[in-house]
Amino acid sequence: MNPIKAQYDERGSKPHKLIKALPYDRPQPGTGEALVELLAAPINPSDLLTITGDYGVLPDLPAIGGNEGIGKITELGPKVSGLEVGQTVLLPVGCGTWRSHLALPAKDLIPLPGEADPLQLAMLTINPPTAALLLSEVVDLEPGDWVIQNAANSAVGGYLVQLAAERGLQTVNVVRREGAVESVRKQGGEVVLVDGPDLARRVAEATGKAKIRLAIDAVGGEATERLAACLTDDGTVANYGMMSGEPCQISAGQLIFRHITLTGFWLASWFEQSSPADRQQLFGDLIGKIAAGKLSAPVAATYPLSRVSDALRAASRGERDGKILLTPE
Ligand SMILES: NC(=O)c1ccc[n+]([C@@H]2O[C@H](COP(=O)([O-])OP(=O)(O)OC[C@H]3O[C@@H](n4cnc5c(N)ncnc54)[C@H](OP(=O)(O)O)[C@@H]3O)[C@@H](O)[C@H]2O)c1
Repeated sequence: MNPIKAQYDERGSKPHKLIKALPYDRPQPGTGEALVELLAAPINPSDLLTITGDYGVLPDLPAIGGNEGIGKITELGPKVSGLEVGQTVLLPVGCGTWRSHLALPAKDLIPLPGEADPLQLAMLTINPPTAALLLSEVVDLEPGDWVIQNAANSAVGGYLVQLAAERGLQTVNVVRREGAVESVRKQGGEVVLVDGPDLARRVAEATGKAKIRLAIDAVGGEATERLAACLTDDGTVANYGMMSGEPCQISAGQLIFRHITLTGFWLASWFEQSSPADRQQLFGDLIGKIAAGKLSAPVAATYPLSRVSDALRAASRGERDGKILLTPE
């Protein structure tokens, strides 16, 4: 297989028009490096925002897309120990994963269980830890507590439903369309509501007027206010996504009279601030759950790298039934 990379040379509002599948020379693993062939890499909203120029960190141009994924080691350079040819490995976050062959420092590769579903493992680095940390880093939650989230049919939303249930937390799951309700139920979401002006009343009815202290917002705009209105006094809205493209709106009344706090969460900051032991513990736990089939996200489609433009167009469309991933030819 000849190497192919998905590269963009400029930023702009239509990522699928900017990304190109280009041939390149097969890299040679140098000292301390391994040659890794891609198995799968997802297309996340942050990948699209990076190409449009709207993300929090932007690579120099030209750039290869993709922030996460997995591969198989096919060759070892000199002075590599602890890894073998044939081993499935996690690619380092942010390394430009949308390419078929990568020569990478062996010390940056995390071995993965080879028998696990490669598509599920490929989605491990970003969304599962985000869901886990949104439940552990913002508000202290006890079993039995309620949490509300919007974009509940997103990949993060689905992981959050599964991880919350495992911790004995109860979730109110808000989606923006009726057609997404069933997929959230399939992942274990018991209370699933379609967003709308009377959301707080419907949430109170569905939860028996539960005191909800944490709202998790991936949308922004007016959706932030609707979540805030569902919280008990002193509650917290944690925004972690900008799917609407609108600034988070929250009324002065929520802030002044009800002491609602609006805060943000970014996984990249947690990577910087956490200790290696914390990262090892979280990822060890998530890898175990994914390998055991206890934590998963729906997959809408896979595309070969040569069709990266079609893949980005599909990933940019709303109302998908799961992730789009890139795979080798
Ligand atoms: N802060 C962090 O560290 C961090 C980490 C990971 C992810 N994220 C963010 O988390 C969010 C979800 O990521 P993901 O990979 O889980 O997404 P995903 O699986 O691609 O799902 C996207 C979700 O957004 C919804 N959506 C799209 N456009 C919308 C709009 N205009 N208004 C309301 N909802 C809309 C979709 O609903 P439909 O199905 O109805 O289209 C779907 O539920 C993204 O914003 C992503 O950037 C943040």
